[in-house]
Amino acid sequence: MRSIQPAGPSQGGASPPPERAQPANHTHPLPRGGGRGEGSSPALRLATLPPLAIYLHIPWCLKKCPYCDFNSHALAGPAPENEYVAALLADLEFALPAIWGRRVVSIFLGGGTPSLFRPESIDHLLAGIRARVAVLPDAEITLEANPGTFEAERFRGFRDAGVTRLSLGIQSFDSAQLAALGRVHDAPQAHAAAAAAVAIFPETNFDLMFALPGQDAAGALHDLRQALRYPVQHLSFYHLSIEPNTYFARHPPRVPDADAAAEIEEAVRAGLAAAGFEHYEVSAHARPGHACRHNLNYWRFGDYLGLGAGAHGKLSFPDRVLRQTRARNPRDYLAAVAAGRPVESERAVAPKELGFEFMLNALRLKEGVPSALFSERTGLSPAVLQPALHEAQARGLLEPDSRRLLATPLGQRFLDDLVALFLPGDASAA
Ligand SMILES: C[S@@+](CC[C@H](N)C(=O)[O-])C[C@H]1O[C@@H](n2cnc3c(N)ncnc32)[C@H](O)[C@@H]1O
Ligand code: SF4
Repeated sequence: MRSIQPAGPSQGGASPPPERAQPANHTHPLPRGGGRGEGSSPALRLATLPPLAIYLHIPWCLKKCPYCDFNSHALAGPAPENEYVAALLADLEFALPAIWGRRVVSIFLGGGTPSLFRPESIDHLLAGIRARVAVLPDAEITLEANPGTFEAERFRGFRDAGVTRLSLGIQSFDSAQLAALGRVHDAPQAHAAAAAAVAIFPETNFDLMFALPGQDAAGALHDLRQALRYPVQHLSFYHLSIEPNTYFARHPPRVPDADAAAEIEEAVRAGLAAAGFEHYEVSAHARPGHACRHNLNYWRFGDYLGLGAGAHGKLSFPDRVLRQTRARNPRDYLAAVAAGRPVESERAVAPKELGFEFMLNALRLKEGVPSALFSERTGLSPAVLQPALHEAQARGLLEPDSRRLLATPLGQRFLDDLVALFLPGDASAA
């Protein structure tokens, strides 16, 4: 999981978590809680459980992109589709006792490249989920697609299987940039996939990246203009980040420096605002009423069951909040499910970490969250936040409005510094 980076001029902008990605977990070394919580921390009690989403990870791609640090593996032959879908459904069955009686508000099929799977497999998977848990009739169901795996017939098949929202990894509409990024598609394929996506799906997102090798503001605005040729409702614009253990980390491309990247970002944000898009999260923009409900649930500290290789989840109970992970390697994951133990690790989040985790997610939202949500989601008294809130407000990083937890423009720009004030162990944290 990519960590939050400072957002704003001369700081190099903010990066993911990408559209598909799971929410911000802490990336700082925090004390590990165990079992049902930690001795000296305040007790927590949740009066109501948060909305529940399901995230399903499909861990294969046609080819590994040189900048990508997601749990994705280049396919050498055909993906073991049937076996994997069966494993996801078995994984869900093992998880049922933890979510009895709860209704699912959204489903996200992320990767990797879920569009590699046949529509029949996605249909079988979604039908299998609906047969096992109550999925709300108007649930948002997103599938990530790569334009390199595009065929209109395939897209129609995904829609007929119940997918309501397609998230297309366009990255750029410039063939030279796409080649520099090692993508399997070129600009004509990006356009063909974009046109089909908006024609077939009720909701569409395009992922685009900026601060690409050799790019200037004019280049990024060209990409934005190409995207705006389509009636797309959601655009995720990510600052290309060079991640450790990627090909780009070993062979760094010449990317714009921090100031140039900030200039590009500013131009792109202004262009998006002029086109009627609301900038509602660090990297996410949507036409009014079209924010991604699944990701909003992450940032509002909702629950999510993560199924599949490397997926992680967060599940609340009246007296504890659990975090789970599954084995990253697809073969290990399949073996773990076959052995009846899909969950690789599970721990109760220590109450003193919960305040930090809540703020780490909530402060990504441009409109913040109602203050009352803190106690609702964490089961903790609002008093535990007070010292850090005072400090953040005194530094001008947080709005002094007691009804909302909301970063000021300065706080949005220095998000890392702001959320660090809520770290446990810091004088201010819970
Ligand atoms: C898992 S991928 C999406 C779907 C599909 N695998 C694809 O790439 O077309 C999620 C998105 O994360 C973004 N992303 C991946 N690596 C990134 C990086 N190093 N910096 C910024 N954004 C990145 C890309 O925009 C990508 O579309
Ligand atoms: S297609 Fe997407 S998930 Fe796969 S390697 Fe490329 S960026 Fe990563």
